[in-house]
Amino acid sequence: MCGIVGYIGNREASDILVEGLSKLEYRGYDSAGVAILNNNNLGLRKYKGRLQILKDNLEKQPVKGNTGIGHTRWATHGEPSDKNSHPHANTSGNIAVVHNGIIENYMEIKEKLKVNGYNCVSETDTEVIAHLIDMYYENDLVEAVQKAVKELEGAYALGVINKENPDKLIAVRKDSPLIIGIGEDENFIASDIPAVLKYTRNIFIMEDGEMAIVRKNDITLMTTFGRPVEKEVYTVNWDVEAAEKGGYDHFMLKEIFEQPKAVKDTLSPRLNKQNDIRLDDITLTKEDLDNINRVYIVACGTAYHAGLLGKNLIQKYVNVPVIAEVGSEFRYNDPFIDNKTLMIIVSQSGETADTLAALRMAKEKGARTLAVTNVVGSTISREADDVFYTWAGPEIAVASTKAYTTQLVSMALISLDMANKKGTISNSMYHDLIDELRDTPAKIDKILDTSDEIKKLAEEIYNKDHIFYIGRGIDHDVAREGSLKLKEISYIHSEAMPAGELKHGTIALIEDGTPVIALATQDKLYDKTVSNIKEVSARGAKVIALSMLKNKEIDQSADRVIYIPNIIDDLAPIVSVVPLQILAYHVATLKGADVDKPRNLAKSVTVE
Ligand code: F6R
Repeated sequence: MCGIVGYIGNREASDILVEGLSKLEYRGYDSAGVAILNNNNLGLRKYKGRLQILKDNLEKQPVKGNTGIGHTRWATHGEPSDKNSHPHANTSGNIAVVHNGIIENYMEIKEKLKVNGYNCVSETDTEVIAHLIDMYYENDLVEAVQKAVKELEGAYALGVINKENPDKLIAVRKDSPLIIGIGEDENFIASDIPAVLKYTRNIFIMEDGEMAIVRKNDITLMTTFGRPVEKEVYTVNWDVEAAEKGGYDHFMLKEIFEQPKAVKDTLSPRLNKQNDIRLDDITLTKEDLDNINRVYIVACGTAYHAGLLGKNLIQKYVNVPVIAEVGSEFRYNDPFIDNKTLMIIVSQSGETADTLAALRMAKEKGARTLAVTNVVGSTISREADDVFYTWAGPEIAVASTKAYTTQLVSMALISLDMANKKGTISNSMYHDLIDELRDTPAKIDKILDTSDEIKKLAEEIYNKDHIFYIGRGIDHDVAREGSLKLKEISYIHSEAMPAGELKHGTIALIEDGTPVIALATQDKLYDKTVSNIKEVSARGAKVIALSMLKNKEIDQSADRVIYIPNIIDDLAPIVSVVPLQILAYHVATLKGADVDKPRNLAKSVTVE
């Protein structure tokens, strides 16, 4: 993980790099740095900690120049420190490199460099690249970079500058995202589009094994073997405003409030006037579906929780067994995959390393693959057979909210479309569910109106050390997401349990005043969940129940109740997660936590 940027043009590079890095901090914020070329000088500034520290230092000690590279780090090899921060330079300080990814064979390269008189000063895997380029440099920077990257095993998006070549900036990609921003008399490189959006909407999306020689007025694209590459310019059509906070205190809150729109944007283009689902982006035919006898859904974290709804709906309505697994486990569990398997991959970023590896494995074994992702041009979107985009817009807060609800909607659309094509769902049920889907944005809106009431509940629990979430069936899946949201941003220990499983051990942790958030939205499981609420109440728990308006009487069993609008049970998660997101947000802000950038986390996890 990490974010890289690069600039070449007529403006002060440091301003552009810092601005670009501020849009990439979601990729990591353990350290930040820049390297800038000026009159045969290579100025390097890099510091442990947030970007602000780099900014402050650049104000005190500016580095002038119109060509440079920058980096924001999520530490993998070597602790966060000034020394381990990027850019990394070679010993004589005339080559600087920024890197996102992991060089798996860096220890071997380090040994080889040592034999050739090069000593690394940092603990990173990246520094070897700067020395390798130096070792191969014989007045041709491009050739030296090509020779160096041939020796690298692992993943990398690289930006390289060199004192002897102030007219160029070199970018290389393998298994880590990289784009080139096309300006006028200036060009850019970056890990992600928001970093350059202030300056240009015209982008080249780099593929694995490609490199770009970026000059002020020219961009040459080629493979790392030197073969020319032709590429279409991709024009970004979303607004730079969309990537800013838009008046909210935090990106997370803004993104929670954007959910009605995000859900609508994901849903509406896929429904025609007759209320039928039209998934033009998915090429799976009835024949393809008839051939499928098993579905895998693989994802990580929040995206995995969304996948669990897909599992439920596909099993129920398509009548095919579904195995849902987290990406980091999937490959090591001897999955049953063959050409009768459909592999559904869910990933907001489309870059998560474990999820991507699972996709590649499934493809190798002959599965048909379908990706659900939010990022156009992401690696997962390009490698899957079919792609379904969640049109949530850029999600900046590390804690996922609108991406999750749009993933849930995607799961519903995909499942219902499969069922309809296969004829395993009745026409009336199919249309009832679609009608309900259409109503979800309005129902989410109603919940958003109650944010202040939910804040009062947050005030009652924010100083607790442990908070439990319980639920049965898909309520348990949502409980897991609610619990993850709470712990990742508020740092309160939290667990989500199947409500009926609690008495097999975990109930021992319930004592006087322990908050238990109990989801009871499912008709067929309602009475049983209410019994579980009574069990924990009897042990002193402070129960906050979450149920539908029709279950008014649940207030007799719980201390507090969050009511959500009535909705068909199978789609309840799209609505029921929203108060849990709001609750987590208020708890975290009451605790004074850095909501948008929780400690130890990064938005896009591109390491396994
Ligand atoms: C939590 C969160 C993470 C991600 C996970 C997968 O709020 O955002 O759990 O869901 O890291 O990321 P993507 O969806 O980008 O593959």
